[in-house]
Amino acid sequence: LTPQKACGVGTAPVNIALSKYWGKRDKALNLPINGSVSISLPGLGTETRLKPINAEKDRISLNGKPLADNAVFAERLSRFLDWFRDDRESAFEVETHNTVPTAAGLASSASGYAALVLALDDLFDWQLPKETLSLLARFGSGSASRSLFNGFAIWHRGSREDGLDSFAEPLQVEWPDLTIGLVKVNTGEKPVGSTAGMQQTVETCDLYQSWPQQAERDLQTIINAIKSNDFSTMGKTAEHNALSMHATMIATWPPIVYWQPESLSAMQLVWSLREQNIEVYFTMDAGPNLKLLLQEKDRAAVQKAFQERGIGIEFLHPFSG
Ligand code: PMV
Repeated sequence: LTPQKACGVGTAPVNIALSKYWGKRDKALNLPINGSVSISLPGLGTETRLKPINAEKDRISLNGKPLADNAVFAERLSRFLDWFRDDRESAFEVETHNTVPTAAGLASSASGYAALVLALDDLFDWQLPKETLSLLARFGSGSASRSLFNGFAIWHRGSREDGLDSFAEPLQVEWPDLTIGLVKVNTGEKPVGSTAGMQQTVETCDLYQSWPQQAERDLQTIINAIKSNDFSTMGKTAEHNALSMHATMIATWPPIVYWQPESLSAMQLVWSLREQNIEVYFTMDAGPNLKLLLQEKDRAAVQKAFQERGIGIEFLHPFSG
């Protein structure tokens, strides 16, 4: 652990799970109960610069603003960096910039920890394979394991107790027509973080019993659909998977409902578009915002429908910048 340069730099994209990770089988190692598959959004993500400094504590800034030591984000990041300190005395300066523009409302912890691990790899000149960096990013945030890659990525559940087989890999398939619509309902702080939400679900939700099996089945269905260029099966399965995950959250006690009235309006609009044979699906994470899955040929129709109802939407193309 000797820095090889003055400053390490890393950039990583955010990702959206098509088949979700919900539930940890080992909290300390961030090992998932089920595998997941995602699509990354290049252009949206995090750039991190990392410098060793002569100081007692880490100096962490987010989008140019220094964070207090006790800010939740800073504490979590410092705890993660503890894995990589030569001795307890060494400190880091971490400058994190999220390049998540206007309408995103996307979680940045995934791109954040992936970018940080890439910056560590650069600083110490490890030259580790992406799969190994994915394993390290997993310790910061489970979904970060998938943000080491562009395009589709599979995070393997793995079966080892030490977690050495739980990392993500890219699925080498490109879908140039795939379009993602970001529907921003609210970008404020979420009421319950994903770690707490997962734990509560695993502990208090009877419906959760069926989740691991469904999640593994959906994962396989989506991987096969991606490989055989079957947009309909991918979209349907992703939407069903997201709603099933939310069903487990709603059925915990106390209930965890991330949706807002506008989330439901947007879902209903998606369903009515499908009735008009415009093939669009949605997925949602631990928050109120929708991510639409559609093909480029339907973009104009989807845009018009959302605009007519005054719902903001922004489109991204995962395979063409
Ligand atoms: O990686 P975490 O702890 O932020 O959890 C992510 C959980 C979901 O976004 C809801 C699902 C997923 O697979 O990304």
